[in-house]
Amino acid sequence: MTRRTLLAALGGTAALALLATAAPAAAAPPTSPPGLAALDGLDAAAPNDLVVGGAAAGGGHHGDAAYPDPFTFDEDYRNLLAGEFGSLTPENQMKWDHLRPAQDEFAFADADAIVEFADDAGIAVRGHTLLWHSQNPDWLENGDFTDAELRDILHEHITTVVERYAGRIMHWEVANEIFDEQGDLRSEENIWIRELGPEIIADAFRWAHEADPEAVLFFNDYNVEGMNVKADAYYDLARELLADGVPVGGMGLQSHLGTMYGYDTTLPDNLARFGALGLETAITELDVRMTMPEDGEPTAEMVAQQDEFYDFVLNACLAESSCGSFTLWGASDAYSWVPVTFDGQGSATPWTAELERKSSYCVLQETLVTANPGGAARFAHHPAYEECRTALL
Ligand code: XIL
Repeated sequence: MTRRTLLAALGGTAALALLATAAPAAAAPPTSPPGLAALDGLDAAAPNDLVVGGAAAGGGHHGDAAYPDPFTFDEDYRNLLAGEFGSLTPENQMKWDHLRPAQDEFAFADADAIVEFADDAGIAVRGHTLLWHSQNPDWLENGDFTDAELRDILHEHITTVVERYAGRIMHWEVANEIFDEQGDLRSEENIWIRELGPEIIADAFRWAHEADPEAVLFFNDYNVEGMNVKADAYYDLARELLADGVPVGGMGLQSHLGTMYGYDTTLPDNLARFGALGLETAITELDVRMTMPEDGEPTAEMVAQQDEFYDFVLNACLAESSCGSFTLWGASDAYSWVPVTFDGQGSATPWTAELERKSSYCVLQETLVTANPGGAARFAHHPAYEECRTALL
């Protein structure tokens, strides 16, 4: 489903729906950062054929930290999500370990809250994810199941979850990270491939399609941004499945980048070859981390590098007609998975921990406004835009 048809199905434009449901101005939290009204955001700046999205942060990587799930309690953060983005991807809330505390139990409350929030705000949801080697519950990974039982478990899971949100999900990331760095299927790590063979991947797409024929069904992976051996395997599998009539609709490129690693300049060629297969492409989890200096402040050089990385990926997506979805993995350094996952690294999102926009935000905004035929007129003299131009660029 294209962005336009999805929004039509949701009953109006994102902006109108948000305005209709927004709290009265007087009730707005006084701490709201500037520039967060729906018409100011990154998605509003984007050309109509591009949805700019963000991850809705969910507990799952902060261990004993004080918060379990910022989405549930941080109102400023929620306002930012609704104001900036045209789609949300639940960061953890639709993964197996969240949804399936026990074999006979589904726990939908956290995922429901995000889908309802998105519906109210008139924004789309990208489902993440149904078949993965990671964040699976112990009862599944360490269970003692026959192949037939495992197959039934996956079938039941996909059918139940996808049917529950049918018609409300723009993209489902059906299969996540199924390749290793050599381009081989993760046939040991991934319980489904190990126990049931690679054919289970096609079945997962078929089951998801039966449960929600409208959702575009994606693969998703990391280190497949450039033309490398892993991306070649990713491409070959997509082509084979399409030839077999499997309902694959899109390829997700996560794009977890780091300034210390550089970026692969062949990203545009790679997007183009997936597009040439007739598939949609999406940047699904973009963040740009850096090794933090001892004083905790990135140097001007690091910031400039980060700005360039963000801009490179956005420009590649804008230039490729198959790329209709561009998602940031984090809308605040406070809730980013990076410092918790990569020792000594951080500052990876375009917003500070206080939800202030960084220069990478302004670079993205400027590129979107410039690419949007109506953008310059719409954003001229706009305070959120002017502030970026004068203070941060
Ligand atoms: C990460 C989340 O951001 C963390 O909170 C969690 O602890 C681990 O997973 N690729 C993916 C995402 O597909 O689901 C991962 O999200 C990041 C890498």
